[in-house]
Amino acid sequence: MDQETGQKVGAVLVVGGGVGGMQASIDLAEGGYKVYLVEKGPSIGGVMAQLDKTFPTNDCAMCTLAPRMVDCGGHLNIEKLTYSEIESIEGTAGNFKVHVRKKARSVDPEKCTGCGECVEHCLVKNIVYLEPPPPAEIEIGDNERLKVDEILSRYDGGRETVIPILQDITDEFNWLPPNVLMRASQVKQIPLEHILRIATFYKGFSLKPRGKHIVTVCTGTACHVKGAQRILDRLERELGIETGETTSDMQFTLDAVRCLGCCGLSPVVTVGDDLYGQMNPAKAAALIDKYQD
Ligand code: FES
Repeated sequence: MDQETGQKVGAVLVVGGGVGGMQASIDLAEGGYKVYLVEKGPSIGGVMAQLDKTFPTNDCAMCTLAPRMVDCGGHLNIEKLTYSEIESIEGTAGNFKVHVRKKARSVDPEKCTGCGECVEHCLVKNIVYLEPPPPAEIEIGDNERLKVDEILSRYDGGRETVIPILQDITDEFNWLPPNVLMRASQVKQIPLEHILRIATFYKGFSLKPRGKHIVTVCTGTACHVKGAQRILDRLERELGIETGETTSDMQFTLDAVRCLGCCGLSPVVTVGDDLYGQMNPAKAAALIDKYQD
Protein backbone atom coordinates (compact mmCIF):
# COMPACT_ATOMS: atom_id res chain seq x y z
CA MET A 1 0.00 0.00 0.00
CA ASP A 2 1.37 3.40 -0.98
CA GLN A 3 1.43 5.37 2.28
CA GLU A 4 0.81 8.70 0.57
CA THR A 5 -1.88 7.84 -1.98
CA GLY A 6 -3.42 4.83 -0.26
CA GLN A 7 -3.22 2.98 -3.63
CA LYS A 8 -2.25 -0.67 -3.81
CA VAL A 9 1.09 -1.08 -5.53
CA GLY A 10 3.30 -3.96 -6.53
CA ALA A 11 2.29 -7.45 -7.33
CA VAL A 12 1.78 -10.79 -5.65
CA LEU A 13 3.27 -14.11 -6.64
CA VAL A 14 1.28 -17.25 -5.99
CA VAL A 15 3.10 -20.55 -6.31
CA GLY A 16 1.09 -23.54 -7.48
CA GLY A 17 -1.94 -23.52 -9.73
CA GLY A 18 -3.98 -26.11 -7.84
CA VAL A 19 -7.39 -25.30 -6.40
CA GLY A 20 -5.81 -23.46 -3.42
CA GLY A 21 -3.48 -21.41 -5.61
CA MET A 22 -6.27 -20.50 -7.97
CA GLN A 23 -8.60 -19.42 -5.17
CA ALA A 24 -5.82 -17.33 -3.59
CA SER A 25 -5.07 -15.73 -6.95
CA ILE A 26 -8.74 -14.91 -7.56
CA ASP A 27 -9.14 -13.39 -4.08
CA LEU A 28 -5.98 -11.29 -4.45
CA ALA A 29 -6.88 -10.19 -7.98
CA GLU A 30 -10.37 -9.25 -6.84
CA GLY A 31 -8.71 -7.30 -4.04
CA GLY A 32 -6.94 -5.17 -6.63
CA TYR A 33 -3.54 -6.83 -6.79
CA LYS A 34 -1.71 -7.87 -9.89
CA VAL A 35 -1.11 -11.60 -9.45
CA TYR A 36 1.53 -13.82 -11.01
CA LEU A 37 0.47 -17.44 -10.71
CA VAL A 38 3.37 -19.85 -11.21
CA GLU A 39 2.53 -23.45 -12.00
CA LYS A 40 5.10 -26.09 -12.85
CA GLY A 41 2.59 -28.16 -14.84
CA PRO A 42 1.49 -27.27 -18.35
CA SER A 43 -1.88 -26.00 -17.10
CA ILE A 44 -3.58 -24.81 -13.97
CA GLY A 45 -5.91 -27.20 -12.18
CA GLY A 46 -3.58 -29.38 -10.12
CA VAL A 47 -4.40 -32.88 -8.97
CA MET A 48 -8.01 -32.14 -8.09
CA ALA A 49 -8.89 -32.57 -11.75
CA GLN A 50 -7.94 -36.23 -11.37
CA LEU A 51 -10.42 -36.82 -8.55
CA ASP A 52 -13.99 -37.92 -8.89
CA LYS A 53 -15.52 -37.02 -5.53
CA THR A 54 -14.10 -35.14 -2.56
CA PHE A 55 -14.25 -36.11 1.10
CA PRO A 56 -16.27 -35.56 3.31
CA THR A 57 -19.06 -33.87 1.34
CA ASN A 58 -18.86 -36.19 -1.67
CA ASP A 59 -18.94 -33.13 -3.92
CA CYS A 60 -17.97 -33.58 -7.54
CA ALA A 61 -14.33 -32.47 -7.80
CA MET A 62 -14.79 -31.01 -11.25
CA CYS A 63 -17.79 -28.94 -10.09
CA THR A 64 -15.58 -27.38 -7.42
CA LEU A 65 -12.63 -26.90 -9.72
CA ALA A 66 -14.13 -25.80 -13.02
CA PRO A 67 -15.59 -22.43 -11.90
CA ARG A 68 -12.24 -21.49 -10.35
CA MET A 69 -10.38 -22.51 -13.47
CA VAL A 70 -12.68 -20.36 -15.58
CA ASP A 71 -12.41 -17.36 -13.22
CA CYS A 72 -8.66 -17.71 -12.88
CA GLY A 73 -8.06 -18.46 -16.57
CA GLY A 74 -9.95 -15.37 -17.74
CA HIS A 75 -9.00 -12.87 -15.02
CA LEU A 76 -7.14 -9.90 -16.48
CA ASN A 77 -5.29 -9.30 -13.22
CA ILE A 78 -3.88 -12.82 -13.05
CA GLU A 79 -0.91 -13.60 -15.24
CA LYS A 80 -0.59 -17.36 -15.56
CA LEU A 81 2.98 -18.60 -15.80
CA THR A 82 2.37 -22.24 -16.53
CA TYR A 83 5.07 -24.80 -17.25
CA SER A 84 7.33 -22.55 -15.21
CA GLU A 85 9.44 -22.94 -12.13
CA ILE A 86 10.94 -20.50 -9.66
CA GLU A 87 14.71 -20.37 -9.92
CA SER A 88 15.51 -17.88 -7.21
CA ILE A 89 13.96 -15.39 -4.83
CA GLU A 90 15.86 -12.36 -3.54
CA GLY A 91 14.92 -9.40 -1.38
CA THR A 92 12.95 -8.81 1.76
CA ALA A 93 9.29 -8.74 2.69
CA GLY A 94 7.51 -6.26 0.48
CA ASN A 95 10.27 -6.10 -2.10
CA PHE A 96 11.05 -9.45 -3.65
CA LYS A 97 12.71 -10.17 -6.94
CA VAL A 98 11.85 -13.57 -8.38
CA HIS A 99 13.46 -15.35 -11.30
CA VAL A 100 11.05 -17.66 -13.08
CA ARG A 101 12.18 -20.18 -15.66
CA LYS A 102 9.62 -20.84 -18.39
CA LYS A 103 10.07 -24.22 -19.99
CA ALA A 104 9.84 -24.59 -23.74
CA ARG A 105 6.42 -25.78 -24.85
CA SER A 106 6.89 -26.07 -28.59
CA VAL A 107 3.32 -24.72 -28.80
CA ASP A 108 2.32 -21.09 -29.01
CA PRO A 109 -0.16 -20.72 -26.12
CA GLU A 110 -1.73 -17.70 -27.82
CA LYS A 111 -2.70 -19.82 -30.79
CA CYS A 112 -3.51 -23.04 -28.93
CA THR A 113 -7.18 -24.00 -29.18
CA GLY A 114 -6.81 -27.17 -27.10
CA CYS A 115 -7.64 -29.40 -30.07
CA GLY A 116 -5.10 -32.05 -29.00
CA GLU A 117 -3.65 -32.50 -32.50
CA CYS A 118 -0.14 -31.81 -31.22
CA VAL A 119 -0.47 -34.68 -28.71
CA GLU A 120 -1.54 -37.01 -31.50
CA HIS A 121 1.49 -36.08 -33.55
CA CYS A 122 4.01 -35.54 -30.77
CA LEU A 123 7.42 -36.45 -32.10
CA VAL A 124 8.70 -37.21 -28.62
CA LYS A 125 5.97 -39.71 -27.70
CA ASN A 126 5.41 -41.19 -31.13
CA ILE A 127 7.97 -42.99 -33.18
CA VAL A 128 7.97 -41.42 -36.57
CA TYR A 129 6.58 -43.87 -39.07
CA LEU A 130 8.49 -43.82 -42.28
CA GLU A 131 6.71 -45.87 -44.83
CA PRO A 132 9.06 -48.27 -46.53
CA PRO A 133 9.24 -47.70 -50.26
CA PRO A 134 6.76 -50.00 -52.01
CA PRO A 135 8.33 -52.91 -53.78
CA ALA A 136 8.78 -52.25 -57.47
CA GLU A 137 6.93 -55.40 -58.38
CA ILE A 138 4.09 -56.57 -56.16
CA GLU A 139 3.81 -60.30 -55.82
CA ILE A 140 0.23 -60.93 -56.80
CA GLY A 141 -1.33 -63.78 -58.72
CA ASP A 142 -3.06 -63.11 -62.04
CA ASN A 143 -6.41 -64.10 -60.65
CA GLU A 144 -6.08 -61.80 -57.63
CA ARG A 145 -4.82 -58.98 -59.83
CA LEU A 146 -7.83 -59.29 -62.16
CA LYS A 147 -10.24 -59.29 -59.25
CA VAL A 148 -8.71 -56.29 -57.49
CA ASP A 149 -8.35 -54.32 -60.73
CA GLU A 150 -11.99 -54.92 -61.49
CA ILE A 151 -12.93 -53.64 -58.02
CA LEU A 152 -10.72 -50.56 -58.43
CA SER A 153 -12.23 -49.79 -61.83
CA ARG A 154 -15.62 -49.33 -60.13
CA TYR A 155 -14.45 -46.18 -58.36
CA ASP A 156 -13.27 -42.86 -59.71
CA GLY A 157 -11.66 -40.57 -57.22
CA GLY A 158 -9.02 -40.67 -54.53
CA ARG A 159 -8.92 -41.18 -50.78
CA GLU A 160 -12.69 -40.86 -50.35
CA THR A 161 -13.10 -44.16 -52.18
CA VAL A 162 -10.97 -46.19 -49.76
CA ILE A 163 -13.82 -47.44 -47.56
CA PRO A 164 -16.03 -48.77 -50.40
CA ILE A 165 -12.96 -50.32 -52.05
CA LEU A 166 -12.02 -52.08 -48.80
CA GLN A 167 -15.61 -53.28 -48.40
CA ASP A 168 -15.57 -54.75 -51.90
CA ILE A 169 -12.19 -56.39 -51.30
CA THR A 170 -13.53 -57.88 -48.07
CA ASP A 171 -16.62 -59.19 -49.89
CA GLU A 172 -14.40 -60.76 -52.52
CA PHE A 173 -11.57 -62.18 -50.39
CA ASN A 174 -13.20 -62.32 -46.92
CA TRP A 175 -10.20 -60.36 -45.58
CA LEU A 176 -7.71 -57.74 -46.79
CA PRO A 177 -4.68 -59.52 -48.24
CA PRO A 178 -1.53 -57.34 -48.04
CA ASN A 179 -0.60 -57.72 -51.72
CA VAL A 180 -4.12 -56.71 -52.76
CA LEU A 181 -3.89 -53.58 -50.58
CA MET A 182 -0.49 -52.76 -52.12
CA ARG A 183 -2.00 -53.14 -55.56
CA ALA A 184 -4.87 -50.83 -54.60
CA SER A 185 -2.38 -48.31 -53.24
CA GLN A 186 -0.32 -48.45 -56.42
CA VAL A 187 -3.22 -48.19 -58.86
CA LYS A 188 -5.17 -45.51 -57.00
CA GLN A 189 -2.05 -43.58 -55.98
CA ILE A 190 -3.20 -43.57 -52.37
CA PRO A 191 -0.48 -44.01 -49.70
CA LEU A 192 -0.57 -47.49 -48.20
CA GLU A 193 -0.35 -45.87 -44.78
CA HIS A 194 -3.71 -44.15 -45.38
CA ILE A 195 -5.33 -47.39 -46.49
CA LEU A 196 -3.97 -49.25 -43.46
CA ARG A 197 -5.14 -46.53 -41.12
CA ILE A 198 -8.71 -47.08 -42.30
CA ALA A 199 -8.34 -50.85 -42.49
CA THR A 200 -7.21 -51.06 -38.88
CA PHE A 201 -9.79 -48.58 -37.58
CA TYR A 202 -12.97 -50.41 -38.53
CA LYS A 203 -13.80 -53.74 -36.91
CA GLY A 204 -15.46 -54.90 -40.11
CA PHE A 205 -12.07 -55.09 -41.86
CA SER A 206 -9.53 -57.76 -41.11
CA LEU A 207 -5.86 -57.94 -41.98
CA LYS A 208 -5.84 -61.61 -41.03
CA PRO A 209 -7.51 -64.37 -43.06
CA ARG A 210 -10.97 -65.06 -41.69
CA GLY A 211 -13.08 -68.17 -41.70
CA LYS A 212 -15.90 -68.81 -44.11
CA HIS A 213 -18.39 -68.18 -41.29
CA ILE A 214 -17.86 -65.33 -38.86
CA VAL A 215 -19.54 -66.13 -35.56
CA THR A 216 -20.07 -63.03 -33.47
CA VAL A 217 -21.29 -63.05 -29.89
CA CYS A 218 -22.68 -59.80 -28.55
CA THR A 219 -21.17 -58.99 -25.16
CA GLY A 220 -22.96 -55.66 -24.72
CA THR A 221 -24.65 -54.96 -21.39
CA ALA A 222 -28.05 -56.49 -22.19
CA CYS A 223 -26.47 -59.65 -23.61
CA HIS A 224 -23.84 -59.80 -20.88
CA VAL A 225 -26.40 -59.92 -18.08
CA LYS A 226 -28.21 -62.72 -19.90
CA GLY A 227 -25.16 -64.95 -20.12
CA ALA A 228 -23.21 -63.89 -23.24
CA GLN A 229 -19.94 -64.91 -21.59
CA ARG A 230 -21.16 -68.49 -21.09
CA ILE A 231 -22.11 -68.61 -24.77
CA LEU A 232 -18.69 -67.29 -25.77
CA ASP A 233 -16.94 -69.84 -23.51
CA ARG A 234 -18.99 -72.67 -25.01
CA LEU A 235 -18.22 -71.59 -28.56
CA GLU A 236 -14.51 -71.33 -27.75
CA ARG A 237 -14.62 -74.90 -26.46
CA GLU A 238 -16.65 -76.17 -29.42
CA LEU A 239 -14.36 -74.56 -31.96
CA GLY A 240 -11.11 -75.07 -30.05
CA ILE A 241 -10.07 -71.44 -30.55
CA GLU A 242 -9.99 -68.22 -28.57
CA THR A 243 -12.14 -65.22 -29.37
CA GLY A 244 -10.61 -63.38 -32.34
CA GLU A 245 -9.13 -66.56 -33.82
CA THR A 246 -10.00 -68.69 -36.83
CA THR A 247 -10.25 -72.47 -36.94
CA SER A 248 -7.44 -74.23 -38.79
CA ASP A 249 -9.86 -75.49 -41.47
CA MET A 250 -10.81 -71.84 -42.14
CA GLN A 251 -14.46 -72.60 -41.48
CA PHE A 252 -15.15 -70.35 -38.48
CA THR A 253 -13.86 -67.11 -37.01
CA LEU A 254 -15.08 -66.32 -33.51
CA ASP A 255 -15.56 -62.69 -32.56
CA ALA A 256 -17.19 -60.61 -29.83
CA VAL A 257 -18.90 -57.29 -30.32
CA ARG A 258 -20.47 -54.65 -28.07
CA CYS A 259 -24.19 -54.37 -28.83
CA LEU A 260 -25.69 -55.29 -32.14
CA GLY A 261 -28.61 -52.93 -31.63
CA CYS A 262 -31.25 -55.59 -30.92
CA CYS A 263 -31.02 -55.81 -27.16
CA GLY A 264 -34.64 -57.01 -26.93
CA LEU A 265 -33.47 -60.34 -28.38
CA SER A 266 -30.50 -60.70 -26.04
CA PRO A 267 -28.34 -62.70 -25.81
CA VAL A 268 -27.60 -62.44 -29.50
CA VAL A 269 -25.25 -64.37 -31.79
CA THR A 270 -24.71 -63.74 -35.49
CA VAL A 271 -23.26 -66.08 -38.07
CA GLY A 272 -22.37 -64.04 -41.13
CA ASP A 273 -25.51 -62.05 -41.93
CA ASP A 274 -27.83 -64.34 -39.94
CA LEU A 275 -28.92 -63.15 -36.52
CA TYR A 276 -30.03 -65.46 -33.71
CA GLY A 277 -31.69 -64.10 -30.57
CA GLN A 278 -32.45 -65.54 -27.12
CA MET A 279 -29.48 -67.84 -27.37
CA ASN A 280 -27.98 -70.13 -24.78
CA PRO A 281 -24.76 -72.16 -24.84
CA ALA A 282 -26.47 -75.30 -26.20
CA LYS A 283 -28.25 -73.41 -29.00
CA ALA A 284 -24.99 -71.66 -29.91
CA ALA A 285 -23.17 -74.97 -30.12
CA ALA A 286 -25.93 -76.32 -32.38
CA LEU A 287 -25.33 -73.39 -34.74
CA ILE A 288 -21.79 -74.64 -35.33
CA ASP A 289 -23.15 -78.02 -36.46
CA LYS A 290 -25.63 -76.25 -38.71
CA TYR A 291 -22.99 -74.22 -40.53
CA GLN A 292 -20.21 -76.80 -40.58
CA ASP A 293 -19.60 -77.94 -44.14
S1 FES B 1 -26.30 -55.70 -25.89
FE1 FES B 1 -26.43 -57.33 -27.25
S2 FES B 1 -27.69 -56.55 -28.77
FE2 FES B 1 -27.49 -54.89 -27.46
